[in-house]
Amino acid sequence: MKRTRIAEVLTSENLKAKISVMGWVRTRRDSKGGFSFIEINDGSVLSNLQLIADNSLPNYRDEVLELQTGCSIRATGTLSASQGKGQNVELKVEEIQVLGWADPSVYPLQKKRHSFEFLRTIAHLRPRTNTFGAVARVRNAMSLAIHTFFQERGFLYIHTPIITGSDCEGAGEMFQVTTLDLDDVPKKDGQVDFEKDFFGRPTNLTVSGQLTAEIYALSMGDVYTFGPTFRAEDSNTSRHLAEFWMIEPEMAFCDLEGNIALAVESLKYIFAYVLKNCEEDMKFFNRFIDPSIIETLEGVVSEDFECLTYTEGIKILSQAKKKFEFPVEWGTDLQSEHERYLCEEVFKRPVVLTDYPKKIKPFYMKVNKDGKTVRAMDVLVPKTGEIIGGSQREDDHDTLLESIKGMGLNPDDYWWYLELRKFGSAPHAGFGLGFERLIQFVTGMSNIRDVIPFPRTPGSVSF
Ligand code: 4AD
Ligand code: MG
Repeated sequence: MKRTRIAEVLTSENLKAKISVMGWVRTRRDSKGGFSFIEINDGSVLSNLQLIADNSLPNYRDEVLELQTGCSIRATGTLSASQGKGQNVELKVEEIQVLGWADPSVYPLQKKRHSFEFLRTIAHLRPRTNTFGAVARVRNAMSLAIHTFFQERGFLYIHTPIITGSDCEGAGEMFQVTTLDLDDVPKKDGQVDFEKDFFGRPTNLTVSGQLTAEIYALSMGDVYTFGPTFRAEDSNTSRHLAEFWMIEPEMAFCDLEGNIALAVESLKYIFAYVLKNCEEDMKFFNRFIDPSIIETLEGVVSEDFECLTYTEGIKILSQAKKKFEFPVEWGTDLQSEHERYLCEEVFKRPVVLTDYPKKIKPFYMKVNKDGKTVRAMDVLVPKTGEIIGGSQREDDHDTLLESIKGMGLNPDDYWWYLELRKFGSAPHAGFGLGFERLIQFVTGMSNIRDVIPFPRTPGSVSF
């Protein structure tokens, strides 16, 4: 008989139907009345399905009474309205088959609360817990929401390369890709001879799909990428990963204002989508992870974002009574404590900061008339701080060439990027939305390692 998912079973109108379900046992409770209650979960929803297994089953004594947390089973029976509290339907089992045992003396997941730190050490089993199941379902729903948002607005999904020869952010925090034998590196004039490497030159994993997305924007209009990006920065924080996913729209004939409008609209769309389509999982996060999460998201969907310049932001921060660990003055990059102060204490909502100093931003941002600031925009949210970084792009060839040189980058590596400013250049803009930080904001999960299935961080690449 075909497997029915528990998500479907629990919303079934067709009681009395005979069905087959498969899943992993969460608990077993034996009643004196000669039957057992078994709760199983198959990952399709947060809720478990309750099975009623009668002692008249042929394998009741030998197998049913041996079932423990983590065993996988197949159960066939008829659905009926439940007498008990907490569920609407239950399955009266006619046949139960054990597919895989899990010895409770060694199975690490037991029916108690485990710390997230411990669960990270068993990332191959943690999706069987309520929290990680809920994170996986919400992450899936958010991916769909993102594609739907852009597709409905006519954006083309572009698959930008993972292996690249250029550094988009110019920060040099890249993983090198090589097939050279590290024990016997070929040398020429005392330097590594990259001509002997796979691509005949140094290459790395991309830190952003932006530069190649710009190529397509300047042919196709509105495009976006949504893929993995890599940063070899040695940041051991609750909001940094060495491998994370980024959503990067890029729009031709668009300026900073249009870019901000798209960022705000897309965030509101995603939050509204999750509130509507992940109700049970969101209630779970609201109950066990962050009791204000639903209210916060509803607030963000209905209210305006606060929009101000970096210079105005610095003024507020330097007049603040709060003592910051890192002092602020015009020209310094904002730390997460400053970003959070603006969102949580001053404005109590997401904040869009614009027009940052040129010195602290990458080479590709459009320089303002003052020559000191660029058309940058960061979107900051409570708790997480920065979730979006973007800008209008420099579309003037000579200004861009100066910026590239000024940041110590080699213009030869960017010849094609510069040519886009020679042939039919156009105003254009885009941004990068960090997917894991977005999931943190939506679920209230405090550590970024817990919103991606298999986190990669300095010194840690298990699984
Ligand atoms: O601000 P960033 O560095 O911007 C860019 O990469 C641009 N090229 C994007 C663009 O304009 N197309 O990164 C964008 C976002 C950040 O706001 C943050 O949410 C996320 O990516 N991010 C990280 N997320 C997890 N771990 C890290 N190490 C991250 N670094 C950036
Ligand atoms: Mg940034």
